[in-house]
Amino acid sequence: MTKAVLICSTRLSLLLSLLAIFMTLSHAKLGTLRETSFTVFFQNRPSGPKATSVAIAGIPGQDWTYGKYGTAFATDAAMTEGFDRKTAEIGRGQGMFLTSAQDGTSLTLLLSIVFTGKEYKGSTLQIQGADHQYENPREVAVVGGTGQFRSARGYATFESFRVSKSHVVSRCNVTIQHY
Ligand SMILES: *[C@@H]1O[C@H](CO)[C@@H](O)[C@H](O)[C@H]1NC(C)=O
Repeated sequence: MTKAVLICSTRLSLLLSLLAIFMTLSHAKLGTLRETSFTVFFQNRPSGPKATSVAIAGIPGQDWTYGKYGTAFATDAAMTEGFDRKTAEIGRGQGMFLTSAQDGTSLTLLLSIVFTGKEYKGSTLQIQGADHQYENPREVAVVGGTGQFRSARGYATFESFRVSKSHVVSRCNVTIQHY
């Protein structure tokens, strides 16, 4: 009985060793999995002449607003290092969102962080999913990336602070695992 258990556990440990070797080899191709966290501030202008989010489509004959189901927006806003608009620009938040909940509370967000600052220049991150626009904080998935963020996966939290009628700053904390 004891012998059988011993043989069984020897086989198991052999199997585990092979698995470990296989995993090390398959990791070698991509490099090592790393975790990166950072905070950026989206300088949104939801309205006014310098608007960074613009309604591009909606239900004919109805208002094209954030809270109106079926409205699509294009967006391109500066992403800065600090809360203040004058702090260093790290990149751009570019993409689109669609008011996708019938009651208008949630958007489907398709947002690329296109890095232009020194540290991550040329890399991108792809944020995608449901964005409960009136909740603070809210969380959206990070589904991919390029450059320094290849194969990225993780999540981003958003917290919005209204600075003025036409200026909303969203603090975005990103936590990703990537190679
Ligand atoms: C985002 O990061 C800031 C600074 O580290 C922190 O104070 C804040 O609580 C974080 N927000 C969320 C939703 O985790």
